[in-house]
Amino acid sequence: MATARTRFLLGIAFIYCSLIGRASAGFGDRRSHPSDGGLTPATPTTTGATTPTTGIFDVKSFGAVADDKTDNVQALRAAWMAACKNSATPATLLIPQGTFRTGPTLFAGPCTSPKPITVEVTGTLTATSDLSDYVSPEWINFLNVDGLVLKGSGVFDGKGADIVKDITSLNSKEFHFHLHGCSNISFNNLTITAPGNSPNTDGMHISTSSFINVTNSIIGTGDDCISIGHSTSTISISGVTCGPGHGISVGSLGKRPEERTVDGVHVKNCTFINTTNGARIKTFIGTVAAEAKNIIYEDLIMNGADNPIIIDQSYGGKRKPKVASTSLWKISNVHFRRIQGTSIANIPVSLQCSSKNPCEAVEVADVDLSYVGLTKNTGFISSCTNAKATFGGKLNPPACQL
Ligand SMILES: *[C@@H]1O[C@H](CO)[C@@H](O)[C@H](O)[C@H]1NC(C)=O
Ligand SMILES: *[C@@H]1O[C@H](CO)[C@@H](O)[C@H](O)[C@H]1NC(C)=O
Ligand SMILES: *[C@@H]1O[C@H](CO)[C@@H](O)[C@H](O)[C@H]1NC(C)=O
Ligand SMILES: *[C@@H]1O[C@H](CO)[C@@H](O)[C@H](O)[C@H]1NC(C)=O
Ligand SMILES: *[C@@H]1O[C@H](CO)[C@@H](O)[C@H](O)[C@H]1NC(C)=O
Repeated sequence: MATARTRFLLGIAFIYCSLIGRASAGFGDRRSHPSDGGLTPATPTTTGATTPTTGIFDVKSFGAVADDKTDNVQALRAAWMAACKNSATPATLLIPQGTFRTGPTLFAGPCTSPKPITVEVTGTLTATSDLSDYVSPEWINFLNVDGLVLKGSGVFDGKGADIVKDITSLNSKEFHFHLHGCSNISFNNLTITAPGNSPNTDGMHISTSSFINVTNSIIGTGDDCISIGHSTSTISISGVTCGPGHGISVGSLGKRPEERTVDGVHVKNCTFINTTNGARIKTFIGTVAAEAKNIIYEDLIMNGADNPIIIDQSYGGKRKPKVASTSLWKISNVHFRRIQGTSIANIPVSLQCSSKNPCEAVEVADVDLSYVGLTKNTGFISSCTNAKATFGGKLNPPACQL
């Protein structure tokens, strides 16, 4: 167990996260100080707070202080444990009005309290700024939680701390909101921000999870606003305003051999403001065959997006210009429809698929974009390589010459 924890602390692989999640049976954890020793017992020790009868677990009753200075990770941990494990009724973990600072925080399941468990954020969570807190780069983590509702008008703000930039530049690693091993979770009405100039700072990354909804939220970050990673199914995203950032992506996929199929992603009614991509699917060449299928991007508004519609199967390729992909990943049944607005790209629709596994059943319909780039553009076009695509409805740029 100690070994597993150590590996987890070092953030080597998320597989160990699952291991820990099961072993530890549910608590908010500070992962930054190995000296905390072994696994925390399943009883909160930080405060004498008792289980409320209302089902509302206010972090303030567990010792949290809204001064934007105190590191509240222990209070969050205690409140989460109580809500997740020790509630007789469906519990709500409340982060009330005020600004609460916290280091890396893990909300781990499985929970034993009656479902659903709700995390309601009406205040703001800001990241602590001591780099040594972040042995592993993820900030807010949900792990092995089934049946969670995360809602409120709250803000997750990595911006308050230069830490985000430091972590990403020091470690070239992501700093983000991470869901792994989760199912049946909904996010509503949240704001997630990180500095737009830091690399690899996804707003939210989802992997090995299913039945996840993200609705009516605002995400601005230095990388993907939301990325849907491997081994995921039935992911629905709607009403998200993305920007700055790299858009809403499926992928990247295929970096590691254990990565499995993505099946069922629905992105609807989202707005992209000055993002470098819009609707994107990206795979590496990969070492093990897998699929990304049943993906719908629809009713999207692009405001000055670069690459509003892009499939890129030579993601991570070092050679420039990129050679045609031979990715082992198969992309099929993908719909891009009713996407309008403006783009600064010369090639706003770009479907670059694998020569080994051409994309199949890709639909591009009612895509109406206009060019707003700075330089004169004489060829505002669609480009398709190894893509079995159909084009329909109003199209600007015009369809690929297939
Ligand atoms: C999701 O959670 C809700 C509320 O707890 C429950 O009613 C529903 O059956 C769950 N759905 C799935 C697919 O697990
Ligand atoms: C969403 O958050 C806003 C404040 O940012 C609030 O006024 C509104 O009531 C919230 N909506 C829902 C459905 O919770
Ligand atoms: C996600 O949204 C779908 C469609 O609105 C709904 O059927 C499903 O129950 C939602 N899932 C969660 C976890 O809220
Ligand atoms: C679309 O998303 C916006 C938030 O960006 C929301 O206010 C609106 O209600 C959504 N429309 C539909 C039809 O869901
Ligand atoms: C988007 O970019 C344009 C051109 O650089 C700029 O004028 C506009 O203010 C930006 N919009 C936002 C919301 O940042």
